[in-house]
Amino acid sequence: MSLNAKTKYSGLAMLLHWLIAVLVIVQWQVAVAAEGAPDKAASGQIMANHFALGVVIFIVVALRLVWRQVSPPPPPVASQAKWERTFARIVHLSFYALLLVMPVAGWIALSSFGEPISIWGMFQVPALPVPKNPALGETIFELHGASGIALLVLAALHALAALKHTFIDKDGTLYRMLPFGTARS
Ligand code: HEM
Ligand code: HEM
Repeated sequence: MSLNAKTKYSGLAMLLHWLIAVLVIVQWQVAVAAEGAPDKAASGQIMANHFALGVVIFIVVALRLVWRQVSPPPPPVASQAKWERTFARIVHLSFYALLLVMPVAGWIALSSFGEPISIWGMFQVPALPVPKNPALGETIFELHGASGIALLVLAALHALAALKHTFIDKDGTLYRMLPFGTARS
């Protein structure tokens, strides 16, 4: 290991990672709150926050991906097996794919009802010029809901793997994504 080998993500990458993680959990809880709402009007009001936050998450993830080109991740931890690296790469790729496709799917679905997305009344993301087709919109939303569950399962696996690597294997994985602690190459 060379002394100045890069072992940590950049500060901005860390900030965006944890921001995305928090926003995804909030986004999920907003959907859960809407499901538990007493009636359709209340549920619609809560879901309006989910739609707007979905646009925000899309933008933050896009920023993260641009920054990833400017400041690439540190090389993988050498002590990790090849299958672990491959598995981690697939999970990370799936996160980015889901976090970009899910909001776009939501936008297309809402457009099938002819509805724009209001960003908390400040401005609107207009409906796409797609034919009105509420049945298709419903189907896309159902797939979106299932993808949301898959995303949460992956996030739980991902967090458990990070904790296992850090506290059982003691290979410093978590500190790659934190501004303190010792990460290893
Ligand atoms: C990256 C951004 C997004 C994430 C991570 C996300 C995540 C989720 C999650 C976790 C659920 C709950 C699934 C369940 O408990 O069954 C959900 C449901 C839902 N989301 Fe999103 N969402 C995002 C963006 C959007 C956008 C932009 C829209 C609409 C414009 C939208 C519309 C909906 C709807 C209508 C549901 C209810 C679906 C159903 O079960 O029928 N979401 N979303
Ligand atoms: C919804 C929640 C989360 C999402 C969507 C998420 C997403 C991601 C993604 C996409 C990467 C790859 C970064 C890149 O190379 O561009 C990553 C890396 C990482 N995440 Fe998360 N994450 C989440 C929650 C967590 C949690 C709760 C922890 C810790 C307990 C965690 C710890 C890490 C660590 C340590 C890395 C660096 C892994 C390495 O390169 O060896 N993440 N995460």
